[in-house]
Amino acid sequence: MPHSYRPTYHASVPSGWGNDPNGVIFYGGRAHLFYQHYPHAPIWGTMHWGHFVTRDFVRWQSLPAALTPDEPYEAVYGCFSGSAVESDGRLYLLYTAAQPDQQRQCIAVSSDGVRFTKAPGNPIITAGAMSPELSPADFRDPCVFRHEGRWYMLAGTRILTGDAPSAMTPTLFAEGTHPGFGNLVLLRSDDLYHWSYVGRLLRPQPGLDPEYLRLDGVYECPDYFTLDGAQVLLACPQNLPRRGNAWQNLHSALYMLGALDFGDGHFRVDAIGEIDAGFDFYAPQTLRMPDGRVILLAWKEMWDRSYPTQPEGWAGTYALPRELRVRDGRLIQTPVREIEAYRQNPVCRDGFDVDGEEVRVEGVEGQAIEIEVTLEPGTAARAGMKLFAGREHETLLYYDRELGALVFDRSRSGQAITGREADVSRRLCDVGHPARLALRVFLDVSSVEVFVDGGRQVMSGNVYPDAEDAGAAFFAEGGRCRFTNLRKYDIVVEGGAR
Ligand code: FRU
Repeated sequence: MPHSYRPTYHASVPSGWGNDPNGVIFYGGRAHLFYQHYPHAPIWGTMHWGHFVTRDFVRWQSLPAALTPDEPYEAVYGCFSGSAVESDGRLYLLYTAAQPDQQRQCIAVSSDGVRFTKAPGNPIITAGAMSPELSPADFRDPCVFRHEGRWYMLAGTRILTGDAPSAMTPTLFAEGTHPGFGNLVLLRSDDLYHWSYVGRLLRPQPGLDPEYLRLDGVYECPDYFTLDGAQVLLACPQNLPRRGNAWQNLHSALYMLGALDFGDGHFRVDAIGEIDAGFDFYAPQTLRMPDGRVILLAWKEMWDRSYPTQPEGWAGTYALPRELRVRDGRLIQTPVREIEAYRQNPVCRDGFDVDGEEVRVEGVEGQAIEIEVTLEPGTAARAGMKLFAGREHETLLYYDRELGALVFDRSRSGQAITGREADVSRRLCDVGHPARLALRVFLDVSSVEVFVDGGRQVMSGNVYPDAEDAGAAFFAEGGRCRFTNLRKYDIVVEGGAR
């Protein structure tokens, strides 16, 4: 039976390739999700900006490409990632024109939010005009925002000079093509077209692991916002080395809480966290809704992996949008509340023990479902759920007492996935040894997202089961555990999300 891996309630590229969300903004009564797009094949190619709009973050209407790489300054790699701002009722896109030897910032404007005109003065920003310390070949992903009546831009780059840490070793420069260490820079403008250099964000400071200043890569796709009295910086470091169970993917998405000095660009880092401890999550961007909510959108894929949807002519899915809060010095993420309007066929079960024999609960199954449950690990060594379970396949999500971690194991999920990491089958999320663990799990055909403890941690990953792999079971090994407050819903979006 032909089987499509296309999710039913997540945004996914209609055809061809999609990566980073770009220019996410609420404008003209709708939320806009632009994205890195190659329309001609399901592989990365000369970048366009694809375009979705939504009224509820669940149903996405696809519009014509907002940017196509039709200018000589972007002819090779195309229109890379960037952001959107509204000014005088118009929508401005700031993006990177990418060529093999240089990345420069450009601007395009629209008065209807659909058709964009590139400025005749493009590219408006070059690395060289800002500061000799910026690498011209790695200077991208402008994030523009307003602060005290002026425009500011963050961009990812490599710093060529300056107070690089003394542990700098020649091996980092082995290829010679990308010298310098990854960092972020702040620029300033009064009119969106003329920019000046303020300074670099990450600098040596007490308590900041020098690893963050020695990055052999770029801090891609920065984002900045204030929320709940905190200043939040998001960025995606390439090649950040694994530390314990953190940064298990080759490329990561992190948040930093701290304070940005708008005078010299320094961001004092008070706390760092991994946004998602799963397999597939990158390039998140946020928008602020008229009701004040800060919503995060992200690419729910990862670089340097195989993409099993390619034979279907498309590759690229987006995470279920998340509402953000800052509490107790950390980022809290919960699924956008609009998804609850699509719940159907609720199944409720109060409490049950599992000891040895796995337990199935009538009605708890499906490939497009939400499961909420509280796990009390009790005496079990391992306890959790089998999802997308069929004759040959199962996806495991369980608490492991010895590891003090929630484990997401996709080694037997279905079609195999390959990647550059040593292990692309298992991810661990540190949870310690809690008496209970609240889990909220969203399954969508080829997608798993797990919100842990009310969104204090999240794990996302793609799996490729067969159409028949729709079972679910609760299991415990090496002792007895208890599940309470079980709720299951089908998530039904008539006609699909895209
Ligand atoms: C991040 C990224 C960006 C770049 C874009 C190119 O995923 O590498 O830095 O602008 O993708 O498609």
